[in-house]
Amino acid sequence: MSMKLGFYDSGLGGLSVLKSFLYKYDAKYSCVYYGDTANAPYGDKSKEELKSFIKEIMDYMHEADVDLVISACNTTSALLDELDLDDYFFQVLSLYEVMEKYFKESDEAKKYRKGKKLALLATTSSINSEKYKKWGVDIFPLACPKIVPLMEAGKLEEAKAEWKNCLSQVPSDIKDIIVGCTHYSFLYDKEDKKYNFIDPAELSVDFFDKSMYADGILSFDFKKSVEGELDIDIYFTAGDDDYKNMASSLIT
Ligand code: DGL
Repeated sequence: MSMKLGFYDSGLGGLSVLKSFLYKYDAKYSCVYYGDTANAPYGDKSKEELKSFIKEIMDYMHEADVDLVISACNTTSALLDELDLDDYFFQVLSLYEVMEKYFKESDEAKKYRKGKKLALLATTSSINSEKYKKWGVDIFPLACPKIVPLMEAGKLEEAKAEWKNCLSQVPSDIKDIIVGCTHYSFLYDKEDKKYNFIDPAELSVDFFDKSMYADGILSFDFKKSVEGELDIDIYFTAGDDDYKNMASSLIT
């Protein structure tokens, strides 16, 4: 049986999560990517607006017949626990769930459980939701509202400069940074020794690999089902052609 994964985000950001999956699994399975560019950015939207976007996305995923939805968007991941998704046949993997598990259970996160401070850079909506408080670690929250609109306008260099500007606002004793929006995953310097970046886009692949199998959440063997050709169906709710061009330059 071939497995189909559905990724979604407000626009281009969730492609960083898709990219991590493609990298790990050598890209031979069926994926749907839904970028809600008609409603981007999500970071300045109200809870009620975001919930109605999620409902539309889940209906789309249902029509697309996916087996698992990966919520490649921190902003809406923070709200998934407030929604009743039981009527859908697929599972939903939330980046917030990944982070909660990482901070509460992983060995690498022991130092944070013992009190080492981190900063969370994220959208205004994610910060205002205060859901990161459930992770049980000491977090300095910082909203970065200018970054996503720059990226969605194709201004990658300006977005990188704004990311650096936001980083400079983190208190100087904090060097551990949670990359709390999937758009930002394309911006930070992975070689930068000054900071330790914790990126849910990367952690979600490990979580998928370990937990989803180990806990028997997925009832069939993903690795054995990846024999087909690469098959990614990318859809943007507005400006589809332009965004598709930007998308392919980001994921290749
Ligand atoms: N990339 C999304 C996130 O991870 C949404 C950003 C936005 O649209 O403001 O939060």
